[in-house]
Amino acid sequence: MIHKFIQPQRTLSPHHHHAGHIAWQCPSNIALIKYWGKRPGQLPENASISFTLSEARTETKVSYTPRNESSQWIDFRFDGTSSEAFAQRIESYFAGLTDYFPFITQLAFSIDSMNTFPHSSGIASSASAMSALAMCLCDIEQRIWPEAEMDLQKASFIARLGSGSASRSIYPSLAVWGKSDAVEGSSDEYAIPYTDVHPIYRTFHDDVLIVSALKKSVSSSAGHALMQSNPYADSRYQQARDNMKRLIEIMRTDDLHQWGQIIESEALSLHALMMCSDPSYILMKPETLTVIESLRNYRKAKQMPVFFTLDAGPNIHILYPHHIQDAVQEWMKDILTILPDACHCLRDRVGLGPSRIPLP
Ligand code: DP6
Repeated sequence: MIHKFIQPQRTLSPHHHHAGHIAWQCPSNIALIKYWGKRPGQLPENASISFTLSEARTETKVSYTPRNESSQWIDFRFDGTSSEAFAQRIESYFAGLTDYFPFITQLAFSIDSMNTFPHSSGIASSASAMSALAMCLCDIEQRIWPEAEMDLQKASFIARLGSGSASRSIYPSLAVWGKSDAVEGSSDEYAIPYTDVHPIYRTFHDDVLIVSALKKSVSSSAGHALMQSNPYADSRYQQARDNMKRLIEIMRTDDLHQWGQIIESEALSLHALMMCSDPSYILMKPETLTVIESLRNYRKAKQMPVFFTLDAGPNIHILYPHHIQDAVQEWMKDILTILPDACHCLRDRVGLGPSRIPLP
């Protein structure tokens, strides 16, 4: 069977002049069950689930014109500044998409991208950046062949080829990427929206405590690669599958304490895997542990449903339902007074997913 996203007929005929510009904004996301370890073809070793965020977004504008021999295929600016390194990365990404967008080599692209969150915030931008680019490409295809509706599953598939976690940024609130027995319709090739949850989860905040904005010493790609020789890899994938099943059950209810136990264990398992890979490495900072300890003490003392998760970095994501925000802000103020001055908090919450940016 030919793959459902392969569309060999979608090439441009020479007498049509296809040109235009479009822009999309796409949010970042924070994983609750972590994707860590992949198989060739950017396929995950286990299913993951994430909250789609709201404030941390990438805005990408793409202008396209027919490509001729003299035109540069792709030129790229980040925050208004040309970047040859990014342009090359996008070229190799686009070159891998020709089966799915046969017209991609017939157009020349001029791309402008910016993030709504500070460059040096330590927040990973590959999820929002690659999903914004994927939405733009699907939108261009839809403009040229308007009979098809915008296919979010294809957008997620295309985003995944750019960065695994980007596949999940295509949908509002929550998304599942990776085949799981617990989630009907789930797939390793694209993420799907996940809606079968208690409404409290749609009210969640994610306050990101930035304790270090320095570039990570080991990138996510290198981290995924190290899983191949990690002695705990197989038990990790089994643990992730089991946690996914349990979390899916729990999220039908508002049992936030059970929920928090799983997501905190996921975060610490991720960092434990880094510590016992070969070579080993540590991305947490002393402040990361200070914050975790303080949060756990606060939770115990006040019996508040406030929890943490981490992505592949030192910054702590504080997750809690909207109704306790005032209490959590009090704790936040206190913890910031004992952390170094440069530490700060970026407030975010569960969001609505990508949207088109109207252009004049
Ligand atoms: C720890 O999606 O950044 O954030 O597929 O190589 O681009 P690539 O990796 P990436 O990995 C994300 C890892 C994580 C967990 C997660 O988001 O599920």
